[in-house]
Amino acid sequence: NHFSVRTGVFTGKKILITAGPTQEKIDPVRYFTNHSSGKMGYAIAQAAKNQGAEVILVTGPTSLQVPQGIHVEHIVSAQEMYEKAMKHYAEADIVIKAAAVADYRPSETFSQKKKKQDGDWFVGMERTIDILKTMGEHKTSQILVGFAAESEDVEEYAAKKLQTKNLDLIVANNILMEGAGFKGDTNVITTMTKDGKKKDYPLLSKTEAAKWILNDIASYIERQVN
Ligand code: CTP
Ligand code: CA
Repeated sequence: NHFSVRTGVFTGKKILITAGPTQEKIDPVRYFTNHSSGKMGYAIAQAAKNQGAEVILVTGPTSLQVPQGIHVEHIVSAQEMYEKAMKHYAEADIVIKAAAVADYRPSETFSQKKKKQDGDWFVGMERTIDILKTMGEHKTSQILVGFAAESEDVEEYAAKKLQTKNLDLIVANNILMEGAGFKGDTNVITTMTKDGKKKDYPLLSKTEAAKWILNDIASYIERQVN
């Protein structure tokens, strides 16, 4: 079938995949997070493994079972995801950053539970490190694949991220579109490559979307060598 033609591209290749949300702690009982389920990243990990890749999965907290035969690193915060992902970056042939990383974390954290008081509580937030951008700045021979979660002007924003993060391919989705985004089992994606190829996909299961994402990465790699 169509995918078996491509299988060779990933055989024995090291693919670093990040998945799921991050949790940014405020105190022992509270944290900031997002709606990521981890399903898209896990589906890519499974598909890559099925196609013969050596998969390293760096994952935030999810309710999903880790696929068999995959090296997994469990992390909680954006900072931990950064450290674990960078640990494996140099050895990776391909990096796919499906994780929904927090852009901000509380600038102050409490080791004891914060007790309520009269009046409001204002939580200051500071920026986390942009993992993908940092990887783009230190790219040697890795193929870098990012995601772009957008709620408007999807293609413009995705094209900008492709360029500013020094990516090879970006997978864009409109998180407000029916059947797309963080939580469900389906997604509506557009892939855009550094060499100017764009593909719009219809509503797909995340399993199918994962195969097409790998297919587009494989095609891109083949174009580079030819
Ligand atoms: N990303 C990352 N580190 C962060 C934030 C995002 O590595 N601290 C990665 C995500 O894993 C994703 C890509 O960057 O692959 C795009 O994430 P997205 O949230 O769509 O874009 P941002 O660059 O964070 O910009 P914004 O949220 O403002 O749209
Ligand atoms: Ca973001």
